[in-house]
Amino acid sequence: MQILGKLSKILKESKNDYEAYCNYNNTQTLKVNERICFKGDAGSENQLVQGDNIEYMKYLLETGMKGKLHLIYIDPPFFSKNDYKVNIKKKSDKVQSIPVMEQFVYKDTWKEGMEDYLKMLCSRLFFMKDLLSETGSIFVHLDRHCVHYIKVLMDEIFGRDRFINEIIWSYKSGGVSKRSFARKHDNILFYSKSKDYFFNCLKEKSYNRGFKPYRFKGVNEYQDENGWYTLVGMKDVWHLDMVGRTSGERVGYATQKPEALLERIISACSKEGDICADFFGGSGTLASVATRLNRKWLVCDTGKIACMITHKRMVQKDVAYDVCTIGSHKEIETFIKLDVKITADRKLHISFNQYGYMNYEETPASSRYHSVLKSLTDEDSLKLIEYWSIDMNYNGDEFIPSWISCRESEEVLTNIFLDYSGQKHAAIRVLDIFGIETFVKIDLGSDG
Ligand SMILES: C[S@@+](CC[C@H](N)C(=O)[O-])C[C@H]1O[C@@H](n2cnc3c(N)ncnc32)[C@H](O)[C@@H]1O
Repeated sequence: MQILGKLSKILKESKNDYEAYCNYNNTQTLKVNERICFKGDAGSENQLVQGDNIEYMKYLLETGMKGKLHLIYIDPPFFSKNDYKVNIKKKSDKVQSIPVMEQFVYKDTWKEGMEDYLKMLCSRLFFMKDLLSETGSIFVHLDRHCVHYIKVLMDEIFGRDRFINEIIWSYKSGGVSKRSFARKHDNILFYSKSKDYFFNCLKEKSYNRGFKPYRFKGVNEYQDENGWYTLVGMKDVWHLDMVGRTSGERVGYATQKPEALLERIISACSKEGDICADFFGGSGTLASVATRLNRKWLVCDTGKIACMITHKRMVQKDVAYDVCTIGSHKEIETFIKLDVKITADRKLHISFNQYGYMNYEETPASSRYHSVLKSLTDEDSLKLIEYWSIDMNYNGDEFIPSWISCRESEEVLTNIFLDYSGQKHAAIRVLDIFGIETFVKIDLGSDG
């Protein structure tokens, strides 16, 4: 049977899955691994969560967040039938000829085909509807592969009269084909929860014909380097560049979306202080823009690498947030060799000597990279570290870093001196190139 004939079955089964999941007594606890402070406040309502969004959304619904989200933007896999990777590039003076390591980040291939994909998304849309506030809106970012089927499913879930726009995001980058017009747009479906949705109508420039002034009565006209224009309500076709190779906002995540796109969505459909969520968070573009626009944010992704990239992106901004995991996770055993000393001038001196894996087969890296990972561990293992942080006064419960080092170009700091005033316990959290976490408690003795 063609997909069209299966849509009502997909809808029904997804709704059953959602209801069964809601009723099933399997709510996972959210584990807070790190609380990032800003202006003395540790953690906050902002959350970066690694895990399956279905578990996170269920957790949110059961912890009082039903009807509390003002805006949901999602950019899920598109049914592109590709798997996405990041290129890990490392240079070392000690290990020669390190290959670019291609690392899988997420799949967009579906064993049971499109039906499988549509059910995955559809069951999650029911959760999102429950989480949205009465004045809230949802934006679902798709492309030609499936937007028409998802549109039909969203009409059923949210109501046909709740469909507000299909935004066409048009760009220039990417390849061309000799057998079709060049495919240069994505489709973003915009639905509201109710007819009382919040909408701040954004304006854009509309250039006068011939770029000359019209001088109509009562119409404000402006001039820039291109000529005369008026300000009109923004249209639903958005010409915005993709995040290019040389762009300052590029974080190296294959499907990273431009901040300018999120800026329009967030500014149009939320107010300062509102809660915005992205349940397919990738590299954290929504979190980044929401922070800049003074919104709160919830971001979730299954990928350790996606969450590590988002964490590195956010930790540089002035914002407090919690870094969390939900659901079960494969433990990968690592080892760390540290030297910890308290110096005569009351400094805690920590030097990071070696990092590696107990079993290279367990790492997410393909076996063709195991030998280079081993060489790096033996010769220059700090190249494997992307981020580490220290809580100088670890209370055995909440890890609140007082010092953070984050790899931006080639180096992370590995030899540090921190003020010591008799703390008894410290702890260190490390994230490596795969987003694998290692946590080390350090006993500093009774008074150092
Ligand atoms: C297209 S990317 C999002 C890119 C993002 N908008 C950005 O600007 O970087 C889709 C993301 O969805 C994540 N993902 C797929 N299935 C998921 C699930 N069930 N729960 C949480 N995240 C999921 C993938 O790991 C991937 O990072």
